[in-house]
Amino acid sequence: VVHSHFDERVRPYIDLIDSLRLIGIEKDLALPMIAVIGDQSSGKSSVLEALSGVALPRGSGIVTRCPLELKLRRLKCGIHWRAIISYQDKYIEFSDPSLVEGYVKSAQNELAGEGVRICDELISLEIMSPEVCDLTLIDLPGIARVPVKGQPNDIGEQIKNLILSFIEKNETINLVVVPCNVDIATTEALKMAQEVDPEGKRTLAILTKPDLVDRGTERNILDIVHNQVIPLSKGYVIVKCRGQKQIDDKISLADATRIERDFFRRHEFFSSLLYEEKATIQCLSNKLTQYLVEHIKKSLPLLSEQIKKQLWDLRKDLSQCEPGPPLDPQKRKAFLIDTLTRFNDKINRLASGEVVNKEN
Ligand code: GDP
Ligand code: NA
Ligand code: MG
Repeated sequence: VVHSHFDERVRPYIDLIDSLRLIGIEKDLALPMIAVIGDQSSGKSSVLEALSGVALPRGSGIVTRCPLELKLRRLKCGIHWRAIISYQDKYIEFSDPSLVEGYVKSAQNELAGEGVRICDELISLEIMSPEVCDLTLIDLPGIARVPVKGQPNDIGEQIKNLILSFIEKNETINLVVVPCNVDIATTEALKMAQEVDPEGKRTLAILTKPDLVDRGTERNILDIVHNQVIPLSKGYVIVKCRGQKQIDDKISLADATRIERDFFRRHEFFSSLLYEEKATIQCLSNKLTQYLVEHIKKSLPLLSEQIKKQLWDLRKDLSQCEPGPPLDPQKRKAFLIDTLTRFNDKINRLASGEVVNKEN
């Protein structure tokens, strides 16, 4: 019930974005992007997967090796799922969701080589479906501390610079992913986000793996989610995604959503977070949509100014042109005859050797 009420409030804005996109507004208005950052294996790809409903390459070690832009486009009609993956000069359209993982992996291998190296070339994956929300998300390689065999010594720096290039932009919302079983105070990603956004206006933290929390530290996690440890103005959301076993057992994303809700409902310490709207992927997705709408509301006056200026410039150019044919069909014939006559006169005068100036 809460969800459908929310939907009604944001729907007009989402529809507005849809129609603005149809006329190609993205070139003029930078729609916000959501970048997902965190340590390796903190659960970034899992969060994106759960938000988008799209199975992405994930697992232990460095799996995400190039920035992956995930453009989710909600289709208002039609039931078909469609996707386009593009990178460099490649452009592949497909309609089978199970092919995503394979295409992303081969794109990464082509761009970064097989193995463990990273690359800053963007892979763009556009997904059109009636079941996704209108969001653009960026999956980034995780922050690595020590190079593994086959990685250059400065891999840590390379990854940080790549991440910075995305999170420093003002229109980026930074999602910092931190597992419940590590010390949040030492999280490099959170430090980076705080450096580029000291007031925390566009930083939201996501706590993952609540099922792996160390027994006895649950109250600390509650304090963190209640914004009492490292306060962020956009706060925290705690989510549970599919673990390796659930993936091996082929638990679907839809089932995982149900399991996640049950997990929080039954949790001795975390169940209250469900009602405080601080837990589950669904809650995260609602918050993100709301931020998107806020951003659009803020950008609309600016956009309107830009459009007015363009219109004024065009009107000025237009006033310097000759009027076109009359709208009245009766007068069109006369206009055509007149134009042809004038043209014919010019030709005759040219043929007779007369100098024709511009006005004639
Ligand atoms: P990334 O490297 O940050 O993109 O992390 P991944 O999304 O690839 O996740 C790393 C591992 O953690 C994968 O094996 C996931 O299945 C697992 N994982 C992610 N979220 C959860 C969670 O909420 N609970 C459990 N138990 N495992 C999770
Ligand atoms: Na990983
Ligand atoms: Mg990943």
